Amino acid sequence: MQALILAGGKGTRLRPLTVYTPKPIVPVVNRPFLLYQVDILRAAGITDITLSLSYQPDKIEQLLGDGSEFGVTLRYVTEPSPMGTGGAYRFAADNISETTIVFNGDILTDFDLSSLIEFHRGKEAAATIALVPVEDPSRYGLVELDKDSRVMRFLEKPEAGDLAKLTINTINAGIYVLEPQVLNLIPKDTNHSFEYDVFPEILNRKLPFFGKVMSDEYWLDIGTPTSYLNAHHDFLNGKIKGFDIPKTDLSDVATHAKIDKVSVIGENCTIKPGAKIVNSVIGAGVHVEEKAVIENSVIWSHTRVSSGAEIRGAVIARSCHIGRNAIVSEGAVLGDKTTLTDYSKA
Ligand code: GDD
Ligand code: MG
Repeated sequence: MQALILAGGKGTRLRPLTVYTPKPIVPVVNRPFLLYQVDILRAAGITDITLSLSYQPDKIEQLLGDGSEFGVTLRYVTEPSPMGTGGAYRFAADNISETTIVFNGDILTDFDLSSLIEFHRGKEAAATIALVPVEDPSRYGLVELDKDSRVMRFLEKPEAGDLAKLTINTINAGIYVLEPQVLNLIPKDTNHSFEYDVFPEILNRKLPFFGKVMSDEYWLDIGTPTSYLNAHHDFLNGKIKGFDIPKTDLSDVATHAKIDKVSVIGENCTIKPGAKIVNSVIGAGVHVEEKAVIENSVIWSHTRVSSGAEIRGAVIARSCHIGRNAIVSEGAVLGDKTTLTDYSKA
C-alpha cells in the first residue's frame, strides 16, 4: 500500500499566510501541517509516501527531507505547472504500482485509515472515497450513495438549485483508495480533475466505486483562515485525538505571566510579567512583553508582541512586530513581517 498526498495547490484562500509558506507546511500547533497526515498514514502501516507538489516545492522538500525523521519514506514529484488533482495523480504514475491512498493535502483528520482500506478490499472496489457529513455542502464535492454504499452521484461545488433538490449532506472528505486501473482513465500530460473528470468517468464506466461515511471522527479542511484558526481551537480543546502536540516549554516564561492550561507555547519564547495568554498557540522564539494580551489566537515564530498590545481571535504569521498598545481584533490575519505601529488598530 502506498500513499500520494496532493500538495500542489496555491492555497489562495489562506493568503496572506501562504505567500511565503505553502499550505501543506503551514504550522498547526507548531508542527508543519503535513506531519498530521504522515502520522495517520504511518498508524495504518503506510510508510511509502509520495508528495505531489507544484507551488513552492523546494520549501516543502527542504523541511520534510527524506521522511526518515518521521518514520516514513518521502518521495517528491513536482509538476512543471499545476495539472489538477487527477492530473497530479497521473503525473506521479511512475511512483505508483499498487493500491494507493490519495489525500488532499489540506485535510486534518484522525480517521482510522485501516478501516477504510478494509472496506475498500471487502467491496473489491476500483475506487473508494471517504465521506463526511457537513452542514453546508456547497463548498465541497457532494456524494450520494445507494444502500450498498455504491457511489450514485458526485457533484463538485453544487449550486443552490442542485442543493435544494437534494436531501443528503455527505461530502467528499478528500481521502481516496484507488486501484492503479484508475490511472488508465486519465490522459497523460493534461490538466485533469478527480472531482470534475475522473469520478464522473468512473461512474460512466460503471466501475466498482464506493463511499464510506465517517461518523465520530474529526475532519476539517484547513484551507481558509477561519478553519485554520478553528483547527487550533479544536486541538487545544481536545476535539482531535491521537496526535502528539508539542509540549509547552515554560523555562523562559516569567512567573508572573498568566497562561491558561490549554495554550501551547513554543521553544525559546520570552513571556514577560503581567502578559496574559488564553486559548492560543505561540510559535518558537516569540516575545510577549509586559501586559500584552493574546486570546484565541495563533502567533507564528519570532513575532514580537509589545507591551500592552491586545490580540484576539487573530492569526499573526512569522517575524511580525506588533507595536505597543496596538489592538488586533477578531478575524485579522497578518502576513509574515507585518509591522503595526504603536497604538494601531487592525
Ligand atoms: N499537485 C497538485 N496539483 N495538487 C493540487 C492541484 C494541482 O494542480 N490542485 C489542487 N491540489 C491539491 C491542493 O493542494 C489540495 O491539497 C487538494 O489538491 C484539494 O484542492 P483544494 O483547492 O483544497 O480543493 P477544495 O478544498 O476546493 O475541494 C476539494 O476538497 C474538498 C474537501 O476538503 C475537493 O476534493 C472536494 O470534492 C472536497 O469535498
Ligand atoms: Mg481544500
